[in-house]
Amino acid sequence: MSDVVLSQFTPTRREERVYSKKVKIGIIGTGWIAESHAESYLRMPDVDIVALADLIPGKAEAFAERYGIEGARFYKDHTAMLAAEGLDAVSVCTYNATHAECSIAALNAGVHVLLEKPMCVTIEEAVDIIRAEKASGKILSIGFQPRMDTNMQMIKKIVESDALGEVYYIQTGGGRRRGIPNSTFIEKKTAGIGALGDIGCYSLDMVLNAIGYPKPLSVTGWTSAFFGTNEAYQYADAEHSAAENAARFSVDDFAAAFIRLEGGIIVDFRISWAMHLDTPGDTVILGKKAALRIPSTDCWNGTVGGPMKLYTDVAGVQTEVEIPILETPEPGLFDRKIRSFLDAVLTGGPAPVPSGQILYNQAIIDGIVKSAQAGREITIAIPEL
Ligand SMILES: NC(=O)c1ccc[n+]([C@@H]2O[C@H](COP(=O)([O-])OP(=O)(O)OC[C@H]3O[C@@H](n4cnc5c(N)ncnc54)[C@H](O)[C@@H]3O)[C@@H](O)[C@H]2O)c1
Repeated sequence: MSDVVLSQFTPTRREERVYSKKVKIGIIGTGWIAESHAESYLRMPDVDIVALADLIPGKAEAFAERYGIEGARFYKDHTAMLAAEGLDAVSVCTYNATHAECSIAALNAGVHVLLEKPMCVTIEEAVDIIRAEKASGKILSIGFQPRMDTNMQMIKKIVESDALGEVYYIQTGGGRRRGIPNSTFIEKKTAGIGALGDIGCYSLDMVLNAIGYPKPLSVTGWTSAFFGTNEAYQYADAEHSAAENAARFSVDDFAAAFIRLEGGIIVDFRISWAMHLDTPGDTVILGKKAALRIPSTDCWNGTVGGPMKLYTDVAGVQTEVEIPILETPEPGLFDRKIRSFLDAVLTGGPAPVPSGQILYNQAIIDGIVKSAQAGREITIAIPEL
């Protein structure tokens, strides 16, 4: 038999490592997104969820019971968990405002971290997280599962193929006509940032990852909250009336920005949780040889909004080429996110979604907030790390 045929039946080095040891996982924050983490971990044969922590008494216990997580220990917060457990890795599934303190504490305790998006709230926090990561030598990956989608990957492949030539302008963003999530997403004390952190970070990642994450230099940003703070556009949920949700709304529900990147690239960006419009537009990437149109997309779900189109001149004729929608094979995006993190833990890296890239994503979000507060363009200052 040829080597090619034989190698199909030979376990890879990764598989040997994967099955030689069970990774001891702790989950910090047992709210909504922790459900997807737990479901994925429970599908992985080489993982044990051994500990869960939540600030709300009884929440972690109820979560474990709901998911049939047996033998796990429960803690009142991340500090108690990290002090008592010898964990290999944690999923940080807390709201944005505690991302930094939980991941820094885990890294300082010598534990690998899968940190939910957005990385955190401010650039200062992102810098502190990366300093802790570097000092610890542990894996830190940020939870951007749309990157695992085949069509999203195609955007990067098109740019890297040089089909567009030198990229000089990007229009991106997206959002909803009505789609304010409420819960812990709408208060500054828990979320820190609104639509910007919830879905804006995905829009930025979709295009910045495609072009290799050039450093952001300056930004003019603007944010508003006309819908979230208006009882007429709010709604009641299990815990709050519409009026209460409007009163506690203290983050952005719309943001727009003009961002200058290293290499002379401009990003024109807007993101919406609510507005009087169906979509703020398609994503377009203009290059000197061709341009790419990505139909307006719920990119946070890891989908492009329809077949992408490449516009170029062929022998002097203006031509359009449709890129067909490609199927993303099983497993789903969330399982891929979890598996790629576990593989990095088991093989010593690299992190599938590295913090060094997402630092620039966070720097832009932070810059938009600070520019909006200042009412003018600001320089984005990122310390050397
Ligand atoms: N990747 C995705 O597709 C996706 C989807 C939704 C949310 N998210 C992200 O996940 C994060 C959580 O969102 P959510 O909807 O699950 O929020 P949530 O409010 O439902 O859950 C967060 C939980 O964290 C707990 N918590 C906060 N600080 C803690 C600490 N120090 N120790 C222990 N527990 C702590 C809270 O008590 C709460 O129960 C957010 O950052 C959000 O942006 C990601």
